[in-house]
Amino acid sequence: MVLMVENVDKEFNGECVLKGITFSLEEGEFACLTGPSGGGKTTLLRLIAGLIAPTSGHICLDGSLSRAKPDIGYVFQEGALFPWLTAAQNVAFGLKLRGISAEETRYLVQEALDMVELTGFDEYYPKELSGGMRMRVALARVLVCKPKLILMDEPFGSLDFRTRNKIQKDMVKLWLRLKPTILIVTHNIDEAVYLSNKIIVLSSRPGQIVEQVSITMDQPRIRTEKSFNLIREHVLSLLGE
Ligand SMILES: Nc1ncnc2c1ncn2[C@@H]1O[C@H](COP(=O)(O)OP(=O)(O)O)[C@@H](O)[C@H]1O
Ligand SMILES: [Mg+2]
Repeated sequence: MVLMVENVDKEFNGECVLKGITFSLEEGEFACLTGPSGGGKTTLLRLIAGLIAPTSGHICLDGSLSRAKPDIGYVFQEGALFPWLTAAQNVAFGLKLRGISAEETRYLVQEALDMVELTGFDEYYPKELSGGMRMRVALARVLVCKPKLILMDEPFGSLDFRTRNKIQKDMVKLWLRLKPTILIVTHNIDEAVYLSNKIIVLSSRPGQIVEQVSITMDQPRIRTEKSFNLIREHVLSLLGE
């Protein structure tokens, strides 16, 4: 088991934001977290990343309770690249902090850029790349550290419809190839059904798990299939829409 969240409550200034959150992720699972705005999705990701501590309950990564969680890759909303660094330098950033040699860094960065199909874009600055490409760089920056768990907070929210569909397709390809364990926050139900093996549906504040919907359809999926629509409607009904 990569992640275990056990009976986690989170309060801010005495106000409960998350209540009794319990779920786990097995190695290689691709999960989505969805729910209404303000339901505590970002808070839950930050708790898992160890950026904040739960008011009560436990979060274990790879069987360990430690607060420092170096094996987690966190992709922030919109990707958040350093604008003054090239694509390759952005990807290398985390490796530098770990004291990896220049030669090995070059190799690992190249490998990560290849993985996200950005071969040849090493020297481009973020402003010279499209939104979709910037998101790929952000993903490469996380992949290069080979994390046990990848957390992404509404990563594709700002992309236009076509770019979003394309990058979803690429995410599935990447997941089929490398089988990383991923947890993505999205309020796009179509995206959740397209990507994941499990959708964790949160209620409005205080966020509680309404249901964990497991999806066994083969990847890559076809959005117009009947089974796809049935799952989409089920999740929508859980959200009361
Ligand atoms: N650091 C904080 N201090 C106080 N309140 C916070 C803090 N972070 C989040 N909240 C509150 O917790 C609730 C859930 O926020 P958030 O996790 O961002 O929800 P979501 O990502 O689902 O939209 C919101 O009401 C927000 O105002
Ligand atoms: Mg959020």
